[in-house]
Amino acid sequence: MAAGQEQRRRRVVLFPLPFQGHVTPMLQLAALLHGRGLAVTVLHTCFNAPDPRRHPELTFVPIHETTLPDEVTSAADIVTQLLALNAACEAPFRDALASLLRRGHHQVADDDDDDVACAVVDGQCYAALRAARQLGVPALALRTDSAATFLCMLAYPRLRDAGFVPIKEERLDDLVPGLEPLRARDLIRVDGSDTAALCGYIARVADAVRGSASGVVVNTFEAIEALALAKIRGDLSRPAFAVGPLHLLSPAPAAQGLLRAPDRGCLAWLDARAPRSVLYVSLGSVARVARATFEEMAWGLAGSGAPFLWVVRPGLVAGDGEEAPPLPDGFAEATEGRGKVVAWAPQREVLAHRAVGAFWTHCGWNSTLESVGEGVPMLAQPCFADQTVNARYVTHEWGVGMEVGEEVERGRVAEAVAKLMAGEDGARMRDKARSLQIQASAATSSSMDGLVRFMLSRRNANV
Ligand code: UDX
Repeated sequence: MAAGQEQRRRRVVLFPLPFQGHVTPMLQLAALLHGRGLAVTVLHTCFNAPDPRRHPELTFVPIHETTLPDEVTSAADIVTQLLALNAACEAPFRDALASLLRRGHHQVADDDDDDVACAVVDGQCYAALRAARQLGVPALALRTDSAATFLCMLAYPRLRDAGFVPIKEERLDDLVPGLEPLRARDLIRVDGSDTAALCGYIARVADAVRGSASGVVVNTFEAIEALALAKIRGDLSRPAFAVGPLHLLSPAPAAQGLLRAPDRGCLAWLDARAPRSVLYVSLGSVARVARATFEEMAWGLAGSGAPFLWVVRPGLVAGDGEEAPPLPDGFAEATEGRGKVVAWAPQREVLAHRAVGAFWTHCGWNSTLESVGEGVPMLAQPCFADQTVNARYVTHEWGVGMEVGEEVERGRVAEAVAKLMAGEDGARMRDKARSLQIQASAATSSSMDGLVRFMLSRRNANV
């Protein structure tokens, strides 16, 4: 029997969290696994379900989660959302996985002789990791954030015991032992969620990986995070596969329209701009800012004089629900002819466009990797969660960006934009961004080969 046929018999079950920044890398991983001869079933929530028509090579099975509590769909803080989501998914995920194991896939796939080799579940979904383990299915945790962020999560109990967390005002600039170059101010934080809740959540994630995962899969590459990856491997004493940047290595079509269709008209608008003249501005799919911050952003853009493409997502302004926030009076007139505002952009194509010179970003990990992959320097405005960690690496470790400042203020924004787009600092960051781009494009799929070998060597306890 040919090696390919042999592999075709093994099935991997994936379970993404239903958010843009999580579904995208999981489907990118799915395409890579399928390309290496594995059969792939994606279990998914009905909430924010991916579109199976875009991935005909994969099998999609909804878990039919119990109605999600308001905490998940509302503007609650992310910790409350993740706790509620884990609770709502645990039993339905276990039932769906158990059903796949029982049926041996006769009813869900054409190939009737495959068995489940292992599961890959989103690393934030501790409930699914535990459930897979209970069913005897070897499970890997996919980290859709950086190795540095995951290391930070593993270190949280130690930092709390050492009195480093909750973070004290007078220690904000202290380097965190074992996590350098992070300072206390760069540690994972979630505004509106108390430290106990955040620590409790992080402990569940870390415990699930330590107790229930056979290893971790991280969307990163050795050249930028070798040290953090080595520390993770040392801490967990199990494999950590650095399989990224997934968006560069994977043939998966961009799942950018999970929440809304991208406005492709902005690409034609970019076509008419000079090379590297446009600042692309987007704070991702989840972050919300205060109205005052939104207005400072707007007037900072107006004052910078730079052409810009700004993603003003419905729901971007806290307190507006899912409404599109109105732009400040007079803003359209003040920026006429040099600004374009869209509700959602085809971000990867935008960053690859020759007219884009810099990216004002919240430093979500996907956005950070996408910017690195195109050699675009960044203006960092981290909002919550892992974004402060990523921003520290962008600005301090890799030198490919600068912070917009703790308080977003129009004068400082205009100054920072001018520096980045046209100043000497900006030119230096652009050069570094280009070298990082070269390293990113040299990232190979050897780690993916190792991952597939590891998966094929697994036997679940049910076969
Ligand atoms: C969230 C967290 O904010 C982030 O810190 C964590 O690392 C992943 O989960 P999100 O806010 O969605 O992610 O940011 P990010 O990780 O950057 O992902 C956003 C994705 O949406 C990117 O793949 C980006 O290309 C896409 N996007 C964003 C668009 O396609 N169009 C847009 O207009 C904006």
